[in-house]
Amino acid sequence: MSDMAPTSETPRGPTALPPEVCVFGSANLDIVVRVPNHPVAGETVLGGDHLRISGGKGANQAVAAALLGRRVTLVGRVGDDPAGAELRAAIEHHGVDTSLLQTEIHCPSGLALIAVGPDGDNSIVVSPGANDRVSVDDVDRAAHALQQAAVTLLQLEVPIEAVTEAAEAAGGIVILNPAPAQALTSRLLESVDVLVPNETELALLSGSPVATTFDEAVDQARLLPAARTVVTLGAQGALIVDETSVHHQPAPSVTPVDTTAAGDAFCGALADVLAEGGSLNDAVGWGVMVGSATTLRLGAQTSLPTAAEVADRLRLP
Ligand code: RIB
Repeated sequence: MSDMAPTSETPRGPTALPPEVCVFGSANLDIVVRVPNHPVAGETVLGGDHLRISGGKGANQAVAAALLGRRVTLVGRVGDDPAGAELRAAIEHHGVDTSLLQTEIHCPSGLALIAVGPDGDNSIVVSPGANDRVSVDDVDRAAHALQQAAVTLLQLEVPIEAVTEAAEAAGGIVILNPAPAQALTSRLLESVDVLVPNETELALLSGSPVATTFDEAVDQARLLPAARTVVTLGAQGALIVDETSVHHQPAPSVTPVDTTAAGDAFCGALADVLAEGGSLNDAVGWGVMVGSATTLRLGAQTSLPTAAEVADRLRLP
């Protein structure tokens, strides 16, 4: 892994080197409010002042990998509203190439309404906006980047048909973070090298209740026709499961401020290590560190760390 933070000299555009990491996915403007408790249906809760923060699972994963020193391109769409310009500027500011991030005319940008509870837990409602217009055309435009990147990162906040085509077009390692969870086709899974669900997504995908033990999570992961599954377990770290072996990676102990984007940071860190030829065990070890460090700040892209910030926030020697 690299501790080199991107700079304004980070190469971009058609003449730049091909990306090490290609992220095909969403960008959202997050409206974040801290709440004393999450509202139930029919309840109004008074929260704190709202914050506008650049987010979206695709953009977060792209920024996470870029902050860790990778050359990253984001393929997707934003709207032609002020939020679209805001999102593009924030993503570029973090060193991500946005030359394949299209602006959709007469369309709002993706928006996420995020309530953050006292324990850092969140509930999120997403209005996809331009993310819903991502299509096979975007895969065609990004064919070169998808083919060249050492790692392609995918999530499910853009249409699954386009995600499937992107997975098939990718020339390197394909990581799918199946969030938000929805039924996955065997066609998509055949092109995925590493599936990265959290416990809730794993339960939905396997048609089971949320696992309460490691053994249950392993059994559920083995129900999915994926080559290798990495189950993220929050404070308990992550499990790497394949047909014949299981590896548990514990996470450092932290008191979270906001867990938003911790899973995205984890995926960005996996891509960071796998892009330089590291093992999946090493990638997951780095992923839990970066994910844990992310929970110590509020917001999505505002909380993503550089390698130096991971060490600093976790007080590593
Ligand atoms: O994973 C966190 C992200 O989920 C937020 O940034 C929000 O935009 C939603 O997409």
